[in-house]
Amino acid sequence: MGDETHGSPAAAVFDALGGDYEKAFASSAAHRASLTWLLERLSPGSTVLDVGSGTGRPTAATLAGAGHKVLGVDVSPVMVEIASRQVPGAEFRCDDILRSPLPEGAYDAVCVYFSLLQMTRAEQEGLVRRLTAALRPGGLLVLATVPLDVEEFDGVFMGQPVRVTSFAAQDVIGMVREAGLTVEWEESTMFTPSHPEARPEPHLFLHCRNGGA
Ligand SMILES: C[S@@+](CC[C@H](N)C(=O)[O-])C[C@H]1O[C@@H](n2cnc3c(N)ncnc32)[C@H](O)[C@@H]1O
Repeated sequence: MGDETHGSPAAAVFDALGGDYEKAFASSAAHRASLTWLLERLSPGSTVLDVGSGTGRPTAATLAGAGHKVLGVDVSPVMVEIASRQVPGAEFRCDDILRSPLPEGAYDAVCVYFSLLQMTRAEQEGLVRRLTAALRPGGLLVLATVPLDVEEFDGVFMGQPVRVTSFAAQDVIGMVREAGLTVEWEESTMFTPSHPEARPEPHLFLHCRNGGA
């Protein structure tokens, strides 16, 4: 594993949180339902890119456990170390996805669960376009985020200082449509992480297809 974190602020936050992040979000029924939606549509042995793969649970563990070939990319060396240990059936790479080359048409599916929030709006839009280009025609992209109209908002997340940028829900949907994706199922929910300093937060899950059915 190389150190390709480029001094990323996201790496600092998630290096500090490590396995506590997984514990705090383990009870998310919406995340589990999202993975079920994906599993029901993937052909056996599909190739999946997991962007911001965290500890590897639940996403890479669920998909690799179902026999799919999963590559997780995460900018946090601590997260990559935990994921590699917890999910030996998937491959993990420590890198900033904004600087990673993405081969065109290479993936049957791409997962982006809560990994855009430390990027600028232009970076999020550019990345979603590049991830769409990395999907085969008809491939699937599942994106989850905290749909808030905030730019470079300085907050505290599970005791860690964070700078958050996101979009209101309609603008997240606009971003994926602009990239050429069709939204097949969207799910909005409130979730309170299991952590003493956590507050309820809105979650938006978008389940999309490259170019429509
Ligand atoms: C909120 S956690 C979510 C982890 C996992 N996707 C999940 O839902 O359980 C966000 C993850 O994205 C990673 N991340 C943030 N920005 C990234 C970037 N530019 N490149 C790669 N990983 C990034 C963080 O290190 C962190 O592990």
